[in-house]
Amino acid sequence: MALVDVSRLPQHVAIIMDGNGRWAQARGKPRTAGHERGADAVRATMRAARRLGIPALTLYAFSEQNWDRPQAEVNALVDLLCECLVSERNELVDNEIRLSAIGRLHKLPQHARSRLRTLTSETESYQGMTLNLALSYGGREELIDAARALATKARDGEVDPNEIDEAAVAALLPSMEVGPVDLLIRTGGEQRISNFLLWGSAYAELYFTDELWPDFSANSLYCAIEAYQGRQRRFGLVPDAQQRPASGESPSKLERAI
Ligand code: FPP
Repeated sequence: MALVDVSRLPQHVAIIMDGNGRWAQARGKPRTAGHERGADAVRATMRAARRLGIPALTLYAFSEQNWDRPQAEVNALVDLLCECLVSERNELVDNEIRLSAIGRLHKLPQHARSRLRTLTSETESYQGMTLNLALSYGGREELIDAARALATKARDGEVDPNEIDEAAVAALLPSMEVGPVDLLIRTGGEQRISNFLLWGSAYAELYFTDELWPDFSANSLYCAIEAYQGRQRRFGLVPDAQQRPASGESPSKLERAI
């Protein structure tokens, strides 16, 4: 059982959802079955994050490199995305979750872009949480796009190259719209960043779990946040024991994960 202090939540959680294929393989099913179960885990994680009060959740749903997978798997992933953009609409609306998307979205098929546009505009005023989908996304690609934009501005005399600072770069990174990553989770046992949110993760706490993405649950998220909060305690000014919740502490401040 994980114990989460809801007064010290990470403001931006980002997740590399890995292990769908292995989950399916272990059950003698096609990889696409793993992605379908992965979509259920997305729903559970989104709900749990919203319920806790995490302001931003970025999910690595499709990397720039994923285009090189077999065409049938790419098509299945795009179809699943499109289905989810319809099936999860009410979930987003009812919970005031704003949908946003980052990545080279122009590479997505037209019907996927259109559904994405519809739901992002329908939810754009919501402030309950931002669900940020990284689609056709790569951290290096995002930095390249920003570098091109800055170079163009410099060429046109709109920017003095000597005055380019962190803020100027961050302002051109769509992933930074929800701020830097506090907690970066990767499921599936590998311990890599895999070209995800390279700029925004500069000071992120990294949390790796062997759990395969389709098995990830609300409790898995609570465990990751508990670990994150433990690390803050290690680097903070107050000894660990003093930050542990005393019994009887206000339930509004603490949530016992079940
Ligand atoms: C990595 O697992 C996962 C993906 C490439 C796709 C992630 C997609 C989903 C979780 C489903 C739908 C999501 C949304 C937002 C609708 P892998 O296939 O690389 O697994 P493996 O390492 O076991 O092969």
